[in-house]
Amino acid sequence: MKSIVILISGRGSNMEAILDAALPLETRAVISNRPDARGLDTARKRGIAAIALDHKNFPTREAFDAELLATIRHHRPDYIVLAGFMRILTADFIAQYENRIVNIHPSLLPAFTGLNTHQRALDAGVKIHGTTVHFVTPALDHGPIIIQAAVPVLPGDSEATLAARVLRQEHRIYPQALAWLAADRIELRDGVVQIRNPGVVSPVPDATFVVPDED
Ligand code: GRF
Repeated sequence: MKSIVILISGRGSNMEAILDAALPLETRAVISNRPDARGLDTARKRGIAAIALDHKNFPTREAFDAELLATIRHHRPDYIVLAGFMRILTADFIAQYENRIVNIHPSLLPAFTGLNTHQRALDAGVKIHGTTVHFVTPALDHGPIIIQAAVPVLPGDSEATLAARVLRQEHRIYPQALAWLAADRIELRDGVVQIRNPGVVSPVPDATFVVPDED
């Protein structure tokens, strides 16, 4: 069975969705750069090693990443899963786990990289918004896309209502992406993800799944 370490910074609802999915994946540890992250308690209650590594205790990004890397290596995961981890990782860190770090981003990449995606989507007047699970590369929010879910932007939406609609889909697609990873179905060809035998990704209300075609 493949193993993961999950990195969080806060609430940890994506982490919970991943744990609830009971995937054939061993979660070896949950690490937060914020000691007060609610998700650490959730992990602890489930008997998972929950580690706080406060980035404020490190003089530089490099120093924090070095300690983070050492902590992760101790647990020897196959993959690193970023679930609401609000720190930019250094290129050196990413190189140590090339194509083995996945992230969820609350927009349809490559639109709206970075922060405040829901408000920016509203300000831009887009009619379709969504979320993306992708591999992490040194280019922020630009790595190969594994799965996306799209939701409509509805008249009268606020940042909060739109965020909630997107979050429901995040909780759906992240476990799906990790199920493919666990089953070794994800292949990268020229920087583009191919899924071998993706199976049926069941539709859910107000979302459209975009699954790469089989060969
Ligand atoms: C999610 O919207 C995720 O896409 C973004 O930060 C939020 C984290 O939420 N990167 P949670 O901690 O998983 O509840």
